[in-house]
Amino acid sequence: MRAVQVTKPGSADNLTIGTVDKPVPNDTDLLVKVHSFALNRMDIMQRDGKYPVPPGASPILGVEFSGTVETAGSKTSKIKVGDRICGLLGGGCYAEYVLVPADLAIPIPDNVSFEKAAAFPEAQFTAYQSLFWINNLQEGEDVLIHAGASGVGLAAIQLAKWKKAKRIIATAGTESKLNHCKSHGATHAINYKSEDFKDKVAEITDRRGVDCIVDFIGGSYWNSNVASLARDGRMCMLGFLGGMKVETDLSPLLLKRLKIEGSTLRSRDEHYQAKLRAAVVRDVLPMLAAGTLDVKVDRVFDWKDVADAHKHMEANSNEGKIVCNVTAA
Ligand SMILES: NC(=O)c1ccc[n+]([C@@H]2O[C@H](COP(=O)([O-])OP(=O)(O)OC[C@H]3O[C@@H](n4cnc5c(N)ncnc54)[C@H](OP(=O)(O)O)[C@@H]3O)[C@@H](O)[C@H]2O)c1
Repeated sequence: MRAVQVTKPGSADNLTIGTVDKPVPNDTDLLVKVHSFALNRMDIMQRDGKYPVPPGASPILGVEFSGTVETAGSKTSKIKVGDRICGLLGGGCYAEYVLVPADLAIPIPDNVSFEKAAAFPEAQFTAYQSLFWINNLQEGEDVLIHAGASGVGLAAIQLAKWKKAKRIIATAGTESKLNHCKSHGATHAINYKSEDFKDKVAEITDRRGVDCIVDFIGGSYWNSNVASLARDGRMCMLGFLGGMKVETDLSPLLLKRLKIEGSTLRSRDEHYQAKLRAAVVRDVLPMLAAGTLDVKVDRVFDWKDVADAHKHMEANSNEGKIVCNVTAA
């Protein structure tokens, strides 16, 4: 089969479509013909040689896909050949075919396109896990969501709204991105490039701070994030777009009784992923089917232009998700 290959670690121009062995399914697997895959930041790090592939995962880039089931193992009962599914995997999605453990498959609602379906799993799983399982966001609480117009950011804004959070404060770097945050449910949107988000959060919350933060930025935001948390505040750290080193005063962690937890979804085992999948299918998929939850697709590329798709993400140009369609040779 054809698959995107990294000729050598480094620039997006080192991505090329080559030929690899088609995966061989076992009894519990589905073999899926991929229609679309979506990009994630970790793909760029992996391409660059800076993201270790989890043990047992395909070395091919890509963790989320949509497509049609071509063969179903004898121990897969619920999904049939010909079904449209999407899902989140440890890797291997930048390819014509993927192997999908049957209990990780997500049925695509009839009214949802392959492109939107490919862009659904990673952002929704990450946002759901960080808001509800890690940050334990409760109805009526205030939440701060950084990189608000990112795929994960827009998912988190909508899930916080569904949970009936009181103030949903998002940060982003352009006016257009701030508008997207607001149209998806943010009650306040802060341009972190022209305003100090710590001061704005204090102003918006009458100096109380927020109950929860979803952070992808890390080092450069650490001190302002800690200052923005209310007493008993929680923060989930999902990335280090702003660096990994901090110089800080630790006293607020004790005085405000803060809880700070990091997570990477890709490193979770199949049992955890299946539990999270079940929760997202139960709570979030019906909103997608009903059209009350938007999966914002920023741009769809032909996979032959995957290098341009990577460059688009590296330039922080996307509002929502970037998707590639797998097309004929
Ligand atoms: N740990 C996990 O399990 C997990 C899972 C999925 C994703 N993630 C992480 O979540 C983040 C969002 O993922 P995504 O795929 O949704 O990203 P994305 O769509 O590529 O968006 C990331 C956005 O972050 C903002 N940004 C970049 N560098 C920044 C900086 N130094 N300071 C402030 N803002 C910055 C940019 O928007 P502006 O124009 O607004 O600056 C950029 O468009 C990534 O860091 C990704 O690695 C983590």
